[in-house]
Amino acid sequence: MLKKLTLLRERVQDWDIYPFSVPAIRQLGVLALRSRIAFFAGENGTGKSTLLEAIAAHYGFGREGGNRNFRNNSTESNHSIDPLVKALRLSFDKKTGAGFLLRAESFFNTASHIDRLDEEPGEGPPISAFYGGRSLHTRSHGETFFTVLDLKFRRNGLFLLDEPEAALSPQRQLSFLVLIHDVLHEFKDAQFIISTHSAVLLAYPKAQILSFDEERVHEIDYEQTGSFQVAHRFLNHREVFLEELFADTPWLFKED
Ligand SMILES: Nc1ncnc2c1ncn2[C@@H]1O[C@H](COP(=O)(O)OP(=O)(O)OP(=O)(O)O)[C@@H](O)[C@H]1O
Ligand SMILES: [Mg+2]
Repeated sequence: MLKKLTLLRERVQDWDIYPFSVPAIRQLGVLALRSRIAFFAGENGTGKSTLLEAIAAHYGFGREGGNRNFRNNSTESNHSIDPLVKALRLSFDKKTGAGFLLRAESFFNTASHIDRLDEEPGEGPPISAFYGGRSLHTRSHGETFFTVLDLKFRRNGLFLLDEPEAALSPQRQLSFLVLIHDVLHEFKDAQFIISTHSAVLLAYPKAQILSFDEERVHEIDYEQTGSFQVAHRFLNHREVFLEELFADTPWLFKED
């Protein structure tokens, strides 16, 4: 399991440029992972994907998504996180080679890449065979995403996910929690680090929630996450919430 991330501060040359210009990244010291499921939470732009990608790069995963055999060269040109990769130390109690980085955001690129590789002549079965035998483009975004999760995650390894909820309906998010639960139960060397804004995913019992808010990475409780607080207030007091948001256009709430 990946137990600890350490920013070796002496290896940082320029604190003023990305990725060290991101406050939570700049403040990183030693980050202990104490659960096999950790969430990166926090506002947009606080550095969650940056850290997730740096871990993935360190581990040898393609940055757009994929495993060690899977490097999408056409999208691999962003080397801006390299200084962070160089300054980050990953400490394991037991290293498992397997793993996966999945970004819902760029998943389409990954699917295209798989399709392209299958068009080229080569030895061995088509890659899509491992993804359910159909081009990933002939399924919906959420179906594809869930298929990949289902096929790739039932084993030991370090699984990094960036906003998986972007592709998943609320019901599928619940199914996803069940899938994670099954994997953690069945495979004792499986580990998940998931960046998310989803109040559903964050609710996984006993997960470690690391907030990137307030310019530092720190552990918080589920009820302290912005995702929970906003969803909770919104669903319980929708009218009040909307009236506040649109206070300058009260006519919006008048019956026609
Ligand atoms: N290649 C880059 N060069 C310069 N700045 C970058 C680069 N990539 C991201 N940033 C900036 O770094 C900050 C952190 O970005 P990051 O993508 O890690 O945020 P995030 O927490 O994942 O946000 P979100 O919740 O919106 O996905 C943002 O201000 C972003 O604009
Ligand atoms: Mg992000």
